[in-house]
Amino acid sequence: MCGIVGYIGTKEASGILLEGLRKLEYRGYDSAGIATVLEGEIHCVRAKGKLHNLEEKLVGETNPARLGIAHTRWATHGKPEEYNAHPHMDMAKRIAVIQNGIIENYRELREELKSRGCEFRSDTDTEVIPHLIAEELSKAEQVAEEPLIEAVRQVVRKLRGAFAIAVICADYPDELIVARQQAPVVLGFGEGEFYCASDTPALIPYTRAILNLENGELARMTPLGVEIYSFGGQRLKKAPRTLDVNPVMVEKQGFKHYMLKEIYEQPGVVRSCLEAYVNSAWTSADHKNSPIRFDLPQSWYRNLQHVQIVACGTSWHAGLVGKYLLEQLADVPTTIHYASEFRYAPAPLVPHTLTIGVTQSGETADTLAALEMEKARRDNKSEEFEARLLGITNRPESSLGQLVSNIIDTHAGIEIGVAATKTFVAQLMAFYALAIDIAFHRQTIAAQQIEALLTGLSQLPAQIELILESQERYIEELAHDFAETQDFIFLGRGINFPIALEGALKLKEISYIHAEGYPAGEMKHGPIALLDAKVPVVAIAMPGPVFEKVLSNAQEARARDARLIGVTPMDEQDAADTFDTLIPVPHIDEILSPILTVIPLQLLAYHIAARRGLDVDQPRNLAKSVTVE
Ligand code: AGP
Repeated sequence: MCGIVGYIGTKEASGILLEGLRKLEYRGYDSAGIATVLEGEIHCVRAKGKLHNLEEKLVGETNPARLGIAHTRWATHGKPEEYNAHPHMDMAKRIAVIQNGIIENYRELREELKSRGCEFRSDTDTEVIPHLIAEELSKAEQVAEEPLIEAVRQVVRKLRGAFAIAVICADYPDELIVARQQAPVVLGFGEGEFYCASDTPALIPYTRAILNLENGELARMTPLGVEIYSFGGQRLKKAPRTLDVNPVMVEKQGFKHYMLKEIYEQPGVVRSCLEAYVNSAWTSADHKNSPIRFDLPQSWYRNLQHVQIVACGTSWHAGLVGKYLLEQLADVPTTIHYASEFRYAPAPLVPHTLTIGVTQSGETADTLAALEMEKARRDNKSEEFEARLLGITNRPESSLGQLVSNIIDTHAGIEIGVAATKTFVAQLMAFYALAIDIAFHRQTIAAQQIEALLTGLSQLPAQIELILESQERYIEELAHDFAETQDFIFLGRGINFPIALEGALKLKEISYIHAEGYPAGEMKHGPIALLDAKVPVVAIAMPGPVFEKVLSNAQEARARDARLIGVTPMDEQDAADTFDTLIPVPHIDEILSPILTVIPLQLLAYHIAARRGLDVDQPRNLAKSVTVE
């Protein structure tokens, strides 16, 4: 939440900073602001609302400054008003600060500062930082060789919480100071110019040489180079790495929205996952080597008694599919927890447990905290209770990557749309591969069944393409019927229940229509009372053990006049007779079907939101990466 970007170098900073904000706007869009050092002064412009409001304010302005910082905000402390927008400044307006995160002890710091005569101009937690830096700077100037970084270092040691900050000072026009504690910040290296940002898309147009600042680290960036220090003041030696990413990936490429582009990228994402995960030369005759190329420690498979999954939002839905797969294929009892609940009420320790954190961004505060807590409470325990932590993420270089030594990379490419689509499908692919891998090691399913699953997985990209080609237009037209609808119900059973939840979440977050996902068999225990002719019901009905049950549950809804939309295979007569509207998907083994059934639901949510004229990629109140509790 919140995007920060900074630049120091030889070019005009403001254009680079605004372009960076454009790339980071998915992180929050309640307000935006920019501060540069120009002719010995801080020049700060801020605007409420989306970035274009700031851009409008800057029209016609020429600003040759070569140093600056900029911010796009997702409001936590203080309303989304201009006076709360970052950058925030000290009383003398010599220091400007941007922050992503939350300063938990800001109240006491604020009171202390006020008692020393400090006047506040905002309601934010961040504003304490420039005031504190101003105090420390006057002390550091007496004693330190590099006073600005020394002042920031003293201040970050007083802050509690998760934060990434960037600081400029009118009296130090050749310095940009950056600090990180539990919130992401990446540094970019150019020729005589340097960048910082909350995420790589802001840097990709300028450089591929990047360095992730780690927790408890500060950087002093000047036109001559970058120095890294620990919060303790120790100089650290670090070298940038080369980021392997194509700038085209972060453009819309002719699609109206990133979300639609990302939906269309899903066949390619599944192919990438298959290439990365599956040994294509494997046959069922090979009893020694797993068909899956995850290099997990061999000891993890031994005595595996329990898997626990922690995640939030869409990643939690992927985890729920994962639970089903791990139990049904690998025969491991699996529990799934909302990370935000687990971290304060963890389940009792079970020996030989594998804990999986699922987070596309790798930055979700609750998921990281749940994993940290799990690591800590298993520390110094006997071998049977040792922490075995696995991360499933689309950003291996993220905070999750720093926390957990075993990572499954979901290979989806950068996702910009706030509503997760391709990263969800990629997370499902990771769980299929993991369940097959564990099943192979535990010999819980026959080698021929593994072969059949791998064949089924390899057919998915073409099947997704078929859905996109044959159904998108139809779903776009169907969406017209629902532009004014107020409530939706999504039903699924077994492995498609999480897909009902995901369909409802997609619709809620981008179209603002109230939607609920239910296990179809639960409807009659209460929610059926909601139904009437105004409430459409979308049911996922895939042939398998619960196919007829779902059709019966759908009939129960029909008897209450609900309009029934079925996501079901082509040529299923019983389904055709049951539903008012069919969205056909290819025939597929039910256990693999979530990767197909979710596609029409993503398209339905997208087209309803687009039809309602909403900002699909940046829905209200949301941010792509939830880095606060
Ligand atoms: C997905 O559409 C949502 N925007 C949201 O629920 C998201 O999945 C959740 O915040 C978790 O994010 P993560 O995967 O980056 O941890």
